[in-house]
Amino acid sequence: MVEGRRGGEPELGRVSPRPLLETQGLTRYFGGLAAVDHVDLTVSEGEIVGLIGPNGAGKTTCFNLLSGFIRPTAGTIRFDGDDITRLRPHQVVRRGLVRTFQLTTLFQEMTALENVLLGLHLHSKKGLGQVLFSRRTYPPEEVARSREVLDFAGLSAHADQLARNLPHGHQRALGIAMAMAARPRLLLLDEPVTGMNLDESGRVMALVKTIRDRGTTILLVEHNMKAVMGTCERIVVLNFGQKLAEGTPADVSANASVIEAYLGAGLAHA
Ligand SMILES: Nc1ncnc2c1ncn2[C@@H]1O[C@H](COP(=O)(O)OP(=O)(O)OP(=O)(O)O)[C@@H](O)[C@H]1O
Ligand SMILES: [Mg+2]
Repeated sequence: MVEGRRGGEPELGRVSPRPLLETQGLTRYFGGLAAVDHVDLTVSEGEIVGLIGPNGAGKTTCFNLLSGFIRPTAGTIRFDGDDITRLRPHQVVRRGLVRTFQLTTLFQEMTALENVLLGLHLHSKKGLGQVLFSRRTYPPEEVARSREVLDFAGLSAHADQLARNLPHGHQRALGIAMAMAARPRLLLLDEPVTGMNLDESGRVMALVKTIRDRGTTILLVEHNMKAVMGTCERIVVLNFGQKLAEGTPADVSANASVIEAYLGAGLAHA
C-alpha cells in the first residue's frame, strides 16, 4: 500500500497525519440490498484516489453518501476530523467536499461563464433555484473569479458559448469547472471521461492532475482503466458494496480477486 502525497503544512511529530476523508463501516441498504456494505475508506490530503469496481458495485451510492444526498444506514463519515455523517448537501459543500455535476445537470441554455457563476453559489443554502431566479446581477468579483476558473479549465475561449453548443469534452470540463468554483478541498469525480475519445479523456485527466497539483484532493470513480491507472496513486476496489482490494495501480491490477470480479462482471453482461 502506498502513502499518498500530501500538500499543506507538514504535521511535525505525527507519524500518520489525520486523513482528509475517513469512512468507517459506511453502509447503505436499498430494501434488502446492501449497495454499500461496511466500507472503510480513507483519503489523505493531496492524493488522487481511484474508486473502481464492476457495474452496480456501489461507487455512485458511495458518492451520494459522502456528499449528503442520501443518508447511510450505518457507519460514519469524517471530513478533516469532523463528523459529517448527517450533514445536508449544502453543508457538506460549504466544508469543501464537492462532487462534480454530471453532464445532464449543466444549464444547457446558459453560457459556460454563467454555469461557472452558478457553481460559485453551490455553498448557498437557498440553493441554485433562487440564484437562477435573480441572475444577471452578478457582482464583478464573481465574474472575474469565474473567468479565472474557466481559464484554468482551458475554456476561456468558450466563455460566452451556450453550454449545449460545446463539444462533449468541453461540457465535461465545464462540469468540473462548476465544481471548482466552489473551491473544493476534496473533489469527487464520477466518471469524468466515460464515453470520451482518447484525445478528450487525455485532456480531462490532465486537468484532474493540475487540480490536484494546485491543492485539491481527488476521489475519482471511472471505468476507463487507462485513465484510472495513469492518474491515480492509490485505488480502492468495490464489489457488491464491499471493499475487495486496495493498493497501487500495479497491486490492484495484479490482484486475483479483482481480476475475477471484473471477469465475472464481464461474463454476467455477455
Ligand atoms: N436509489 C436506489 N434505489 C434502489 N437501488 C439502488 C438505488 N441506487 C442504487 N441502487 C442499487 O445499488 C447498487 C449499487 O449501485 P451504484 O449506482 O452505486 O453502482 P455503481 O458502482 O455506481 O455502478 P455503475 O458503475 O454502473 O455506475 C446497484 O445494485 C443499484 O441497482
Ligand atoms: Mg455509478
